[in-house]
Amino acid sequence: MAHVSSLVLSAVSLQPPVALAPLAGITDLPFRQLVASFGAGWVVSEMVASQEMVQAKPGVRERAELGYDQAGTAVQIAGRDAYWMAEAARMVADNGAAIIDINMGCPAKKVTNGYSGSALLRNPDHALSLIAAVVNAVDVPVTLKTRLGWDDACLNAPDIAARAQDAGIQLVTIHGRTRCQFYKGAADWAAIAQVKNAVDIPVIANGDIVDTTTARMALKLSGADGVMIGRGAQGRPWALAQVAHELHGTVAPVIPQGAALVRMICTHYEAMLDFYGVELGRKVARKHLGWYMDDAQSAPALRREVLTASTPQDVLRLIPDAIAGQVAA
Ligand SMILES: Cc1cc2nc3c(=O)[nH]c(=O)nc-3n(C[C@H](O)[C@H](O)[C@H](O)COP(=O)(O)O)c2cc1C
Repeated sequence: MAHVSSLVLSAVSLQPPVALAPLAGITDLPFRQLVASFGAGWVVSEMVASQEMVQAKPGVRERAELGYDQAGTAVQIAGRDAYWMAEAARMVADNGAAIIDINMGCPAKKVTNGYSGSALLRNPDHALSLIAAVVNAVDVPVTLKTRLGWDDACLNAPDIAARAQDAGIQLVTIHGRTRCQFYKGAADWAAIAQVKNAVDIPVIANGDIVDTTTARMALKLSGADGVMIGRGAQGRPWALAQVAHELHGTVAPVIPQGAALVRMICTHYEAMLDFYGVELGRKVARKHLGWYMDDAQSAPALRREVLTASTPQDVLRLIPDAIAGQVAA
């Protein structure tokens, strides 16, 4: 099997090699569009449960929604059954996903108890059968996102990555923690080097990368080909573009401040209400508004007011003051 050694997967360019991580409940279409508007190599959808996707369980297909202008979106699918994984892959590819990413890293008990996500690290043969089913089902590149292993006694990511490569996976992202670490401790970027040494396909380092300093250190210790940033982009959708600029010389993002930041946040808020409808949109938006206000060091009383306001109109009226100490126009 021919292996790719640059960040071009079957004609999909992943430049600059700085990606938005999938974050369930967070990297929805409005947030991915916002991050992409500043600049990102590619963005990854929230995990989509394969069987639920195919069977159109309420709310599941929205997670894979692409928008018409999203060229660089990977849709991430999760599951434990080769049939449903292949069907879901076909469906999202037909909908225009540029890349399909397989989730083999989610540590949540409700996912691992279903033998999906990182539970697959304990059953590599089964994991490989899912990978083969997805690769064979679609023409778009298929990538894999996983962790270092299940626990410290089972650090099998290098072996799985090598087998995945032979099965046709074109890129692997490694979160530098084990499943049993969940999100505790620090990501071990040096351990990702063992995966890099085991494969020829591009390897992306992930975990605790929040800025150019951490990105540079992760790349140095892992030897990886690129970085993936998740929580570091919360409240800072320009973070990837800034890292890409400082590491790869792409155009510097104009980081909004003052009135421009207020406008960006209000537009993101309205996009969430449009996408989800007002009731669900307000709930999803609270997380983002909280992060924006953390970053802007909003006064605690104003923060509370924004997060407890009873109507979207009130939220939009309060944001300027909370973010930039401005009076609403
Ligand atoms: C709230 C939350 C949701 C996540 N959802 C997913 C997911 O759907 N699929 C996945 O592969 N990883 C998921 N992750 C893991 C992230 O993609 C990433 O690997 C992890 O957060 C480490 O990167 P970071 O330190 O840059 O956030 C999630 C993490 C968090 C905190």
